[in-house]
Amino acid sequence: MEWTREKRYLPYDKWDALTLLKLQSQAARSDYQLHYHIRPSSGLLNDPNGFSYYNGRWQVFYQSYPFGAVHGLKSWVHLSSRDLVHWENLGEAVLPDTPLDSHGAYSGSAKAVGDKLFLMYTGNVRDENWVRHSYQIGAWMDEKGQVSKLPEALIKAPDHVTEHFRDPQILEHGGKYYAILGAQDKASKSGKISLYRAEQLTGPWEDLGYVDLPDMGYMVECPNLVFVSGKPVFIFCPQGLDKNVADYQNVYPNMYWAGESFDFDMGHFETKQKAPVNLDEGFDVYASQAFNAPDGQAYLISWVGLPDMTYPSDSEGWANCLSQVKRLSLKHGRLVQKPVKAIKSLREAEEDFTGDLAFDAGAQSEIKLTVKRGQKGSLLLAADQAGQHGIKLRFKTGKHARLTVDRGECGQAVNADFGASRTVRLPAGEDLDLRIFMDHSLFEIFVNGGAAVITGRYFAPADQTFVKMDKGIDYRARTWRLKDM
Ligand code: FRU
Repeated sequence: MEWTREKRYLPYDKWDALTLLKLQSQAARSDYQLHYHIRPSSGLLNDPNGFSYYNGRWQVFYQSYPFGAVHGLKSWVHLSSRDLVHWENLGEAVLPDTPLDSHGAYSGSAKAVGDKLFLMYTGNVRDENWVRHSYQIGAWMDEKGQVSKLPEALIKAPDHVTEHFRDPQILEHGGKYYAILGAQDKASKSGKISLYRAEQLTGPWEDLGYVDLPDMGYMVECPNLVFVSGKPVFIFCPQGLDKNVADYQNVYPNMYWAGESFDFDMGHFETKQKAPVNLDEGFDVYASQAFNAPDGQAYLISWVGLPDMTYPSDSEGWANCLSQVKRLSLKHGRLVQKPVKAIKSLREAEEDFTGDLAFDAGAQSEIKLTVKRGQKGSLLLAADQAGQHGIKLRFKTGKHARLTVDRGECGQAVNADFGASRTVRLPAGEDLDLRIFMDHSLFEIFVNGGAAVITGRYFAPADQTFVKMDKGIDYRARTWRLKDM
């Protein structure tokens, strides 16, 4: 089937129910399907949206195109959870069904106010010449999940930005509301973060200009401001960022910039950090969303997928997933990301894994491993029983300590033009601690207590569920089979 523009933007009610059912059952039956991560019911999933706490539950939405593994007419699908691990899919919540979001209910955020959840998102509109217009829209969601959109846009694109103006994050500070948005400056065609202020969420919203960060590539997508141990951290996707400013290997990076303070009214960000750094050291993390929760913690969730890329599951009519939720902290100015405690509730069948024989960890598993200092070797994940193919983790824990993750010999190639391996430096001469999560086609590797995270997709035959350590390595490991969420 050819995905013409007409087809991608066909209104949802023009599709027949049977097509959708077929896509849903095809996605559910896939060997690559995720079992304890948020995944699309059908079609394509991208950014997490509206990550929040409301009505006694955690809430998250995802950008959805339900009719195929392509970027088409986007909506929001809603999920909620009691523990940030077990998510219940509540279905479509924000549909692209008004003149202000006719070509997509694009990304945005949410904030609990009284007994309602306020949503602010970008309405994507294309005119008859296919020129894009972006409107920032407000909507109220009630306890039953009913969404009522405000009839007028909260923010119309100001003259100093191009049509690339989207992904509002709502913030509250000093009794006022603020919003930050990804923007492309019209004069310089560079990536910016726009700042707005309002007394009430429903407006009027006042343009405060740009946050005073340097130009970042040609467009910033999905900016977030989150306070971690009281310090402001911007998390964003600077498309086209000069690799001399900050190096990255993915098509577009997802980065963060940690600071000392942020002046909400002046847009001034005080920071000692010279340049942004990668949020995830792996292959497929983008459009992450973070927020400060009522429990005093900052949590992060990411799209595991990248714009403009294809994945082997596309041929099965579905694509991508969300990462597990990570709790943020700061150590020496760097973000530390840890799994939430409740992830342990998925554990069953604990086993020790020792020696150098291939060990069947299962397709959904957690592996905790310590490699003693002063060694060099490799570990295979998602390996065949012969231990020949798999995701190869090459480690050195001596002087020039580093960890390389290579997915080049594990099933089907994934966006190989951008390299099959990623490397992180490690502190010299120290034990290496890894906490690894596998979910059929996803790996999430937490390095040294979350000082780095390496996330990626892989598409190997379903029986590649073994782990295997090189001969003669001094290590300890424990594995758990993990239940479905
Ligand atoms: C990022 C993004 C956002 C946009 C959304 C549309 O992946 O391009 O900027 O709001 O996806 O689905």
